[in-house]
Amino acid sequence: MQKYSIEALNLNKRYGQFNALSDINLKIEGNKCVGFLGPNGAGKTTTLKIFTDMIKPSSGQAFINGIDVNHEKKKALKSVGALIETPEIYPSLTEREALSMIGQIKGIPKEKLTENIIKVADRVKMKEWLDKKVGKMSKGMKQRINIAAALLGDPDVILLDEPTSGLDPRGMSEVRDIIKELKKENHLIFMSSHILSEVSEICDEVAMINHGKLLAYGSISDVVTKFQSKNKNIVSISFASPLTKLQTDKIKKIKGVIRVEIIDRLNLNITVDSNPKKQSEILSSLVKLKLGLTAFKPSSGLEDAYLSVFKEVA
Ligand SMILES: Nc1ncnc2c1ncn2[C@@H]1O[C@H](COP(=O)(O)OP(=O)(O)O)[C@@H](O)[C@H]1O
Ligand SMILES: [Mg+2]
Repeated sequence: MQKYSIEALNLNKRYGQFNALSDINLKIEGNKCVGFLGPNGAGKTTTLKIFTDMIKPSSGQAFINGIDVNHEKKKALKSVGALIETPEIYPSLTEREALSMIGQIKGIPKEKLTENIIKVADRVKMKEWLDKKVGKMSKGMKQRINIAAALLGDPDVILLDEPTSGLDPRGMSEVRDIIKELKKENHLIFMSSHILSEVSEICDEVAMINHGKLLAYGSISDVVTKFQSKNKNIVSISFASPLTKLQTDKIKKIKGVIRVEIIDRLNLNITVDSNPKKQSEILSSLVKLKLGLTAFKPSSGLEDAYLSVFKEVA
């Protein structure tokens, strides 16, 4: 089985004085699904656009299966299917017409395209809708067609830019299921997301980016071990009614509470000792304060790592 790869080598992208990407070095190899995690504005779309030659880097190189995307665009992109920044499909087209148009742009020969369209529509569970107009479809269905379009031509490498963004919970879960199915086939999937739980649910590995800098890349468990704050744990706590400043101050004074971060007046994140016995004492102190505690939820390892990597957005 061929091992697919994508690689960014000293990738930089400047907009005037602003560094959207700074020296990104990332090599992903193998048939797996890698999450590209970072808050809004981190540089995810910019990176993916460079990988598909939609924009040029200011310096550095991007490779798909070892081929430089900027220098041998056609050859490199032959093995790539990408969905970047959710394109709008003409509402008056049917799914089949829309996929046919994209297939032709991709240069798929006519005799292969008819069959390929049926195959990709089937993979995104949209085969029954092939002759229905796109305009009548839900956002989730349109997104599934966009994924189908990315799959035309049977690409080895699949790049997805926030594929569940803007969808309702049902649409999100349908798209996630499709990506999970794709994982079972022979692909390298690189998928950006700002949703931590989505990446941990779908992906084998995670690359974390913020302010244009790559902060971590590895298996989810390695990244967690690396960034999880030692002996500390972040616990989300929620209350039935808004807290006053006085009440928040009381929480700060509880023995073992290291830090209190106010999300809003109903929700706080508290940093506490990771020792379960100490956490249990803190929980009972919280209950004794009679503030209407409704939830006490210690973060998972990945959440903890995320919060520690992306401190300023936490
Ligand atoms: N064409 C552009 N001109 C100027 N700044 C841009 C342009 N495109 C993106 N940026 C900036 O680059 C940064 C990274 O953007 P982007 O890659 O879209 O982030 P993400 O996809 O992670 O949300 C952002 O601060 C964004 O405002
Ligand atoms: Mg983006």
